[in-house]
Amino acid sequence: MPELNTFPASAAVKDIAASIQVQGYAIIHDMLDASGLARLRAELEPRIAMTPGSHEAFMGARTVRFGCLLARCEETRAMVLHPLLLELVESVLGAFCARFQLNYTGVMHLLPGEEAQVVHRDAAL
Ligand SMILES: [Fe+2]
Repeated sequence: MPELNTFPASAAVKDIAASIQVQGYAIIHDMLDASGLARLRAELEPRIAMTPGSHEAFMGARTVRFGCLLARCEETRAMVLHPLLLELVESVLGAFCARFQLNYTGVMHLLPGEEAQVVHRDAAL
């Protein structure tokens, strides 16, 4: 299995941005501190527990999904405005656009036994 493209939250923005240019993504560990993570879990876990899996095989019967996190979960508002994230977005996309727009926020929580989804490209409707 290939190694994931991960960074600590203390990594330099230029290093993460350069890696995104090559890999197309980066995983940044520990962007939330312990109290932020606890707030996020407290907000999300009850909703995850009450949300059923999909009825469609493609979406996963054992995958819990829901969106609109900025409206449903206060901690996610702080996450999308995290200074490191904003600097990173500016560094990677700033030369190509006048402003940024976040298109989607959501949870995809896979329960034990879920199968891998087939490779696909998401499309805006
Ligand atoms: Fe998808």
